[in-house]
Amino acid sequence: MIAPSARNGLLLRSVSSGTPPPPPATPVASPGNPGSASSSPAPLPGAVVEMIDVRKRYAGALDGPEAGSEAAAVEALRGVTITIRAGELVAIVGPSGSGKSTLLNLAGALDRATSGTVRIHGQDLAKLDDDAVTRLRRDRLGFVFQFFNLLPTLTALENVMLPSLLAGKATAEVRARAEEHLAKVGLAKRRGHKPDQLSGGEMQRVAIARALVSDPPLLLADEPTGNLDTKTGEGVLELLLGATSARRTVILVTHDARIAARADRVLEIKDGLVESDGPPR
Ligand SMILES: Nc1ncnc2c1ncn2[C@@H]1O[C@H](COP(=O)(O)OP(=O)(O)OP(=O)(O)O)[C@@H](O)[C@H]1O
Ligand SMILES: [Mg+2]
Repeated sequence: MIAPSARNGLLLRSVSSGTPPPPPATPVASPGNPGSASSSPAPLPGAVVEMIDVRKRYAGALDGPEAGSEAAAVEALRGVTITIRAGELVAIVGPSGSGKSTLLNLAGALDRATSGTVRIHGQDLAKLDDDAVTRLRRDRLGFVFQFFNLLPTLTALENVMLPSLLAGKATAEVRARAEEHLAKVGLAKRRGHKPDQLSGGEMQRVAIARALVSDPPLLLADEPTGNLDTKTGEGVLELLLGATSARRTVILVTHDARIAARADRVLEIKDGLVESDGPPR
């Protein structure tokens, strides 16, 4: 049903939305390695995502006169310390280029910090190898992207099934769960449609079904309504809000003040730093 090239496409895409993650810059803790991750405070009980003095530096332009130079490097996060707890609905807001997607990608283990500590469900990412990070993403995280990231050659149902099939689950069970989740987002009748036969809102609903089908405790969404008209965006928002529970944490990046107003907590990012953190105003 699913061509190997499609699998490769998903695997490649699932690793990173941009450049491949660099090797961990934070040294792995060891007794003889002072100043390493071992100096961070112990994980907090109930914390789903913990960041301690996290910095992210991008090397910058890959070609052109400034390629590889100091001047071209971008300090996208400049020392972020936050704790996100189970069941919270957190909106990340801030100007374009402030570091919101960078922060979300680090919280979702799609990329690694240049320095500082990132823990997801108590696991320090700097101490996990790439396979362990892949397993963490697969088993505990769900992602919804601004541009849906559906595979064009697969039907809606196949798109929802694919991550679980790649995780090695039995096809019949995966199909049943995928059908159930497509029905939940109102798309039972569209399950045989490919992405180019779906509207934007429908594609985003397929992406939400795909993110939720494995029942992940942490759901991350980067401007999930950014490409939808207001009304469709509201429908998608309701699905995401409905996905929050005492058990599930949702972190979403948004430019939409109305969405932020419905979060439990708003993290405002400015120039790579947390400018404010608290209930919506
Ligand atoms: N792969 C990359 N290589 C180099 N610089 C990058 C890379 N990704 C992001 N940046 C830079 O890092 C900064 C933060 O980017 P980020 O994507 O986190 O911003 P954002 O807040 O999500 O913006 P937007 O609202 O426009 O999506 C920007 O200045 C951006 O140009
Ligand atoms: Mg962004």
